[in-house]
Order: sequence, then C-alpha cells, then structure tokens
Amino acid sequence: MLRRLHIGILGVLLLGGWGLEPLHADTGQDAWLRYASLEAAARAQYESLPANLVVLEDSPLLNSAQGEMIRGVKGMTGKTLLAGKSVQERAIVLGTLAAIHAAAPGLALPSALEADGFWLVTAQVRGFDCLIVTSPRERGVLYGVFALLSKVARGDNVAGLNEVRQPSAALRWVDQWDNLNGSIERGYAGPSIFFEKGSVRADLTRAGEYARLLASIGINGCTINNVNADPRILDDGFLPQLARVADVFRVWGVQLAVSVDLSSPKVLGNLDSFDPLDPRVIEWWRTKVEKIYRQIPDFGGFVVKADSEGRSGPSSYGRTPADAANVIARALKPHGGVLFYRAFVYDHHLDWRNLKNDRARAAYDIFHPLDGKFDDNVIIQIKYGPIDFQAREPVSPLLGGLEKTNEGVELQITQEYTGQQRHLCFLPTMWNGILDFDLRVNGHTTPVKDLVAGKVFHRPSGALVGVANVGMDANWLGHPLAMANLYGFGRLAWNPNLSSEMIAEEWTGLTFGTDRVVVKTVTAMLLASWRTYENYTGPLGAQTLTDITGSHYGPGIESSERNGWGQWHRADHEGIGMDRTVATGTSFAGQYPPAIRDLYDSIQTTPDELLLFFQHVPYTFRLHSGKTVIQYIYDSHYEGAEQAADFVRQWKSLEHRVPDELYADVLVRLEYQAGHAIVWRDAICNWFLRTSGIPDAKGRVGNHPDRIEAEEMHLKGYSVMDVTPWENASGGKGIECVKTSACTASFRFERAAGIYEMNVQYFDQNNGESKFRIFVGDRHVDEWIANDHFPATRPGGDSSTRRRISGLALRPGDEIRIEGIPDGAEHAPLDYVELRASTK
Ligand code: GCU
Repeated sequence: MLRRLHIGILGVLLLGGWGLEPLHADTGQDAWLRYASLEAAARAQYESLPANLVVLEDSPLLNSAQGEMIRGVKGMTGKTLLAGKSVQERAIVLGTLAAIHAAAPGLALPSALEADGFWLVTAQVRGFDCLIVTSPRERGVLYGVFALLSKVARGDNVAGLNEVRQPSAALRWVDQWDNLNGSIERGYAGPSIFFEKGSVRADLTRAGEYARLLASIGINGCTINNVNADPRILDDGFLPQLARVADVFRVWGVQLAVSVDLSSPKVLGNLDSFDPLDPRVIEWWRTKVEKIYRQIPDFGGFVVKADSEGRSGPSSYGRTPADAANVIARALKPHGGVLFYRAFVYDHHLDWRNLKNDRARAAYDIFHPLDGKFDDNVIIQIKYGPIDFQAREPVSPLLGGLEKTNEGVELQITQEYTGQQRHLCFLPTMWNGILDFDLRVNGHTTPVKDLVAGKVFHRPSGALVGVANVGMDANWLGHPLAMANLYGFGRLAWNPNLSSEMIAEEWTGLTFGTDRVVVKTVTAMLLASWRTYENYTGPLGAQTLTDITGSHYGPGIESSERNGWGQWHRADHEGIGMDRTVATGTSFAGQYPPAIRDLYDSIQTTPDELLLFFQHVPYTFRLHSGKTVIQYIYDSHYEGAEQAADFVRQWKSLEHRVPDELYADVLVRLEYQAGHAIVWRDAICNWFLRTSGIPDAKGRVGNHPDRIEAEEMHLKGYSVMDVTPWENASGGKGIECVKTSACTASFRFERAAGIYEMNVQYFDQNNGESKFRIFVGDRHVDEWIANDHFPATRPGGDSSTRRRISGLALRPGDEIRIEGIPDGAEHAPLDYVELRASTK
C-alpha cells in the first residue's frame, strides 16, 4: 500500500504524459470492490489470463457481468479485455449452462448445479483453452464473475480452475429500515439512499451501486423500507417510483421487495376493515399485487411486521398470523413472489411483577402451534435470539420449532445494540455461533444453518436476512471497518460454513490490499471485537445493559426493569438473572428440544456466557471458571475496556500502511471507543458495587486516584448537576454552565513534575456546540468544539466522551483551568479530568 501511495503521488506529478490516473481519495465508496492495481509479483501470475472476453448471450444481467469483468481486470492488471460474442481464440467465456452447452457440446456440465450456483472451470471451447464462468441462470454467471475477480484481488491462483459453488439458502436478502422521509430507523450512516421527502429519490445512483455491492456477495433481494411500514408505500401513485428502484436493482439481479402494513386495505383502500379473511380485503391485496407486477415483473415480495410494538395485525379481528400471511401470499403466488412474516411478535405491556411472564417465550408460543398452516411461499423471519438483537442471546427456539413451515433467520448488520458503528464490533463471530448451533431437533444434528436453508425438513425455501441500513455516507455504514459486517453477512448467507476468520481475512485483503501486516492486524482486531464489546457492556447473558427505552446506545442498566418491555435482567441487591427454567422459572427453556432444554434448565450445565439469561443467581454464585458472578462482572468490564484501548495501539501500528485519511478516520473512532468503553465499564461496575455491596477483590471499582471530579474543582459560573441515571457520570454528578456565557473550572496540580496525559471527560450533546479551552497557568494548551452527533440531548452515558491532551508538561502548583462556553441547550457540561504520567 505504501508503494501504491508513492506511485500515486508520482502519477499525479506526471499526469498526462504517462496517462496515469490520480490516486483518488479512498472514501470507502468502492468497499471491497476496489480492484486496486496489483503489486508487480501478483500481477505476473495473471499474465496468462486470456485477453478476450466472450459473452455468449445478450441481457442486462450479462452486460453487468461483462462490464464488471472488464472493470476488474483493468483495475487490477491494467489490461483491457477485448469483448466478443463468439470464441475465436483463448477467452474468458461467460454464459448460462445452455449457452455453454451450445458453444462446447462436448463439455460435461456439473449436474448438481442449481439456480444461483456457478461453475468456474478451465476447459476447451472450439479447441481453445478458455476460462468459463457459467450457471443455470444469468444471475449465477454474474456471481461467478464476482467470485473470480475476488480471487484475483486476493492473489489466488486461477489457473486450472474447476470449482462449483452453490448457495446454501435460496433467499439471501437484506432489509433496509428506511422511512419515506429519508430518515432510517436504527441507521447510523446518513440518510436513505432510496427515499427523500416522501418520495423515491430522483437520483438513484447510490441505490444502483448498492445493488452491485450486494450482488458481489450473492444477495438476491432487498426490502427497501422500514418494517414499521408507512402504508403509502403501496399507494398506486408510488408504484412507478418503486419501479425505478427495481430498474436499478434488476441489472444486478437484486429483487426489490417492500415492507407492508397490514392495515393498508383500510388506510389506503378506504375499506372499513383490514380483516384478512374479509373477501373485500382479500380482493384488495390481489388487485394491489397485480398492479405491482404489471410495473415490476420481477418484484420479490413483501415483509410483514404485525401485532408487534404497536403495529396493527390480525389479532384485531381474532385472526392468526397464518390467516394474514396466507391471504397476502396467495396474492403473490401466481407472480412468483414470497411473503416474509416476522416472528417478532410480542406484548410490550407485560406485567413485570409476575415472575412467570417472559417476552422470550412469545415467538415460539405464537408460531409453533401454527406450524404447517402457512402457505409454501411464506417464510417466517425469526430474529436470531428470543429477545432483540442483543450482544449475546441464546438461539431462538422457534428456529427449531417449525418443521412444516419455511423459516429464515434475521441477523442485524446495523449495530443497533452493538455500538451503532461508533464502536468496532465484527458480528460474523457471533453469527458463526448462531448458525452452527445444533438445536438437536428430534434428537438429530440440526444446526441452525441447515434449518434455515430448508435442508432439515426439505422445505421449498429458506432464508438468511440481514438488516443492513446503509446510508448516504460515502462509506455506506459510517465506520470504515463496519463494512466487514455487510460483507460477512453476504458471505455467510451464501456459505454458512465459512469461519469468521476466513471472512475477516478475505474482507481485509479486498479492502486494504494484501500487505500481510495489515491483514493480520485488522483480522485480529475484527475477531476480538465482538467479545470485547460484550465484555464492557453486558455480562453473562444478562443482555446489553443499555438504555432500552431510548437510544439503545450507552449504559442504562435499570431502563429494562419495571416496565412492560420484557428485556428484564432482574438484578437487585441479592442477585441477578431471569429464571427461565421449567421447574421454577418461566419455562422458556422448555421450548427447546430435550437435549438443549436440559442444557439450559440446569444451573450446572448452563454455559457461563448465558448463565444470567436462564438462571437467577446470587452475586456470590461461582461460575464454571471458579470466579464469582460479581467478580466476573468487574473483571470482564475492566478487561473489555483494556481490550478497547488495545485496538488503538494495534491500529497505530498500521500508520502509513493504510491510506492516511482512512487511518485518521478509524483512529478517531477507536480512540472514542476506548473512552466510551471506560464510561460503560464505570457505569456498570459502580452500579453493581452499590447494588450488591460487594467490593471488587482487585480494588479498582470506585477507586480512581488519577481522577479529579469536575464538581470538586474551583468553579466560576459553573454549577453542579446531578446526572441521571447516576452511574452514567463519575460520582453521579457533573457541572454545567447555565447562567453566563462562559464559565471556568480549575484545580491545582499537586503531583510530581513531569509529562502527563490529560483526559477531559465531557458531555457532547446534539443540541448545541459548546466550546472548551484548556489553560495551564497562562498557557493555552488546547481547545475544541463539542460538535459530534451522539444520540443525546442531555449529559449522560450516550453523550459522555473525552478529549485527550498528550505531552503536557506540568509542575506542582500549576493551575489547570477549563473554560466552557455553552451553546444552545448544551451547557458546556463536564464530568472529570484524569491525569496520567506519560510513559514515554
Ligand atoms: C428493534 C428496534 C426497532 C425495530 C424492531 C423490529 O426493537 O429497536 O426499531 O422496529 O426491532 O425489528 O421490528
């Protein structure tokens, strides 16, 4: 990479004469499809690639395949392939099985190849050695082209190829939760690429580029609007707009789908009911679907969220999800469409006082009795865990509870509960665990990956769905390293047997080039990141201890308790955890097949990482590791924060090995993450210390000798405030500047003279841009504006962040002064200052 940068600079200098292109800033837009120029040695091994490209048929999809092949080879090797329609000499040949058979009748084609699967093979066509990319369908040919280009980008050998690749599940979709006004529910990377001000965007360039990215990892469908669907999506006037999206998707083989609201026949169709069994409602769906297919012949289908979190649903008419699903599915059936009916159905007004109530039970309780009642083009879309995309949950028992119904697993690419793309959290590690989990249905080996592919019960269909929520940010997901999650989802949806390590290496190689140090370092960071995130957020299966009624971002330990949402961890002064056992608890464990039920039912066999999901235990309970629960909580949070700090060190070792802008962007994020991990650590450790009364055996919790609390400084204009919940600020308090236009907080430095690192912990809300200035005596040492966009309008765990000032020379008696200038509703709030002697 370093070499490339130098060549790039030379190229700019000599531009024109040498015909070199300037090295464009790496915005992340190209993601893993950079097709960056290969190093000379790598390039040499592709010298023998044919110089011709023959595409045997003419179609929009094969045109995309042809264009991609030319673009990729040109970018990586500098060669421009010559395109033709028949084989006259050695060539790369693209075509469906039928076309290949016609061109090379003697070639034995793989018999097992189906649908989107493809075959990469070196074989003779008309006496010439050719590299053939073929599939039963045009889409598979496109997938084959992407696979071939990926090999070249990663320096794999492509001589003598003979590889058949077949996707595991037929439906590999992403859902976007985009609203028609252009916002995205749980989206962290800018506004929608599809909608703007109530309409489909005039310019759909990004949507087309997104479809290309999706195709490159084998995704074949995309639902473009929020599951909390606006009925207007089905308005007749909206359909031509949807058709425009379908047009840009089609050339990449991505089928368009939309989320629909079950009350649409009433709200849009002016009927007085949306009872799914009312003949007028049935007719409404039939006609509506027909209208859609008239404009979008390859329309994929619908996603339905009903009777969930306030959405309307069949229960209003005493009907079942099967009644509702089948009516819509039957309208779609003649056109080849499918209906995803989400199993995320639960009562969010549960009585928390009743220890037998359990939200985790809902999906299985509702859908298991309906097994066999759904039509064959219905897929039950099941979140991986029984709660809601937490950093750690057991696999949903419903995944093993449907034998005569299609099912799909819903994973979440957008990091709603896992750091919102401000924290590094590589999710394929978690997904591997879910997909490999053997539910032992009927006593057999039945891993989730086989169940959702429809293989176990020979279902006509199966699915993996990922909630992606990319946005208009150039790099799609905000955090440059978060794209590894989208990539990983696609790769696992195609081949769930891939390990997260293979995926991390592939992605890193494609994104950053083949520098071994970069690949090794980034891969290691990715692989450690989910566990790290779990370590400093939620312990032992107690879920992500975040603010569940608000942002789902910072710590909010009690937000899950004493309300009807049912994300309870039931921590009190004696113990923690939900008793979900059959004997004494909610019986949730009984929803699993016997072998798994027994595993989770017994306190002796429940794995430590899920202990608190299944058992209520005293804080002094000893884990299998021998540690007490309380000490584990303390230790894991300290370890997690330390690991987050380590990501900064690891990334710093890559300076000059990755493009400078990207390096800087990731570094800022990792430094923020390391600081926020401390906010998390302290909130959780302090809360459990106060609640349990059991001290940390290592003496760290509540003991911060390097810290000077803002409320203990000498204040001018600043006043002390209580932060709620208390654990989200050090000492439960901070200071704010409300009365005047500028305030100061100062203290005397009384430690040994030396060079120090000073961390100023402050709160950065999104409703103002306060300014901070730091002085040592008369020396102005730093200043900054608090203008980040955290999901927070007040001081607390979401807005808490830090400014690091390194290399600060201090002498005993120095006065350190912080000047805060408030702005808008943000009152230059401060929490504390931490001073550490520099190690260098
Ligand atoms: C989560 C998320 C919601 C979303 C819901 C769903 O609860 O916070 O924004 O609507 O999941 O999946 O339907």
